[in-house]
Amino acid sequence: MKILGIETSCDETSAAILENGIVRSSVISSHLVHKEYGGVVPELASRAHQKLIVPVVREALGTAGASAADLSAIAVTCGPGLMGALLVGLNFAKGLALGLQLPLLGVNHLEGHIYSNFLSQPAPEFPFLCLVVSGGHTELVLIEKPLTHTLLGETLDDAAGEAYDKVAKMLGLGFPGGPVIDRLAKTGDPSFVRFPRSMLQDGSLNFSFSGVKTAVMYWLRDAGLYGGPSQEKPDEKTVRDLCASFQAAVVDVLVGKTFAAADRYHVRDIAVAGGVSANSELRSRCMTTAERKGKRIYIPRPEYCTDNAAMIAMAGSFYLRQGQASSLGLTATPGLSYR
Ligand code: KG4
Ligand code: ZN
Repeated sequence: MKILGIETSCDETSAAILENGIVRSSVISSHLVHKEYGGVVPELASRAHQKLIVPVVREALGTAGASAADLSAIAVTCGPGLMGALLVGLNFAKGLALGLQLPLLGVNHLEGHIYSNFLSQPAPEFPFLCLVVSGGHTELVLIEKPLTHTLLGETLDDAAGEAYDKVAKMLGLGFPGGPVIDRLAKTGDPSFVRFPRSMLQDGSLNFSFSGVKTAVMYWLRDAGLYGGPSQEKPDEKTVRDLCASFQAAVVDVLVGKTFAAADRYHVRDIAVAGGVSANSELRSRCMTTAERKGKRIYIPRPEYCTDNAAMIAMAGSFYLRQGQASSLGLTATPGLSYR
């Protein structure tokens, strides 16, 4: 059983072949054009997807040693994401499904992130909790059984990845900001500035990351390093210390809320997913906390944390197993929430 996965919700054009739950190929083409603008430009993303979709799908088939005739189904992201970007992947998948007479499996991008935890073994056992932490979302989801999700909490403002990207921009570190802050924080002092841990003690499972981002901005402004007439930049050591201090605040909140939710809902298995789950500090803090609290933690390999089509194929395989194919009338839904 070979499933072709297609993901085009944001700035990665990706295709993958999943054969009986095993990844046979995973091609991810990241659009470098957005770096020039310090963020994703929707129109440029749509154009890049159009240029890349055919070669990326061809390469995924070729690497897997498969042809279109070998496929059993086509799984594709239908939301949430950028409308123009989603349309490219969805329409391509619909055309292929119609031409090859194959089931079309419309997948929620966030479900894709959750089920990325099934791309390697051991996988979480149901029921499990998942912290989905990406550039567009930060939420805690309880997955009671396959494809049955309850949203327990979510960010009320910025997503954690968005805060990483905005802080990196203030520090002149380029886009995306997560990987570079992660790297610089390794040699920085996390106690240099104590930035706020928003909503950590309030007992809710919601998040807020705009405060910590603004606190970094105020610190830089008060030090005369942001927004003033002088174009002075922080020195290298200060940048490393600020990265480590900002990251410590974000990770404290993510880890604190996730394990509080696991206790509250009595779940032993905890998964983490989405671009920020590639963060080395978050990964190690989750692992040490899980060991201390007798929980089991699951985090995908870094290449399956950020956007990829293998996770879409994996989520699609759950739909296929339950006989839940989509109709060709499936539409792209930028604000899609869980079913
Ligand atoms: O899941 P993803 O690829 O796209 C969305 O669905 O949003 O996540 C992208 C986000 C970006 O904000 C990026 O800065 C962040 O994930 N990210 C990281 C790391 N790698 C990617 N954040 C922190 N540490 C990282 N190592
Ligand atoms: Zn994503």
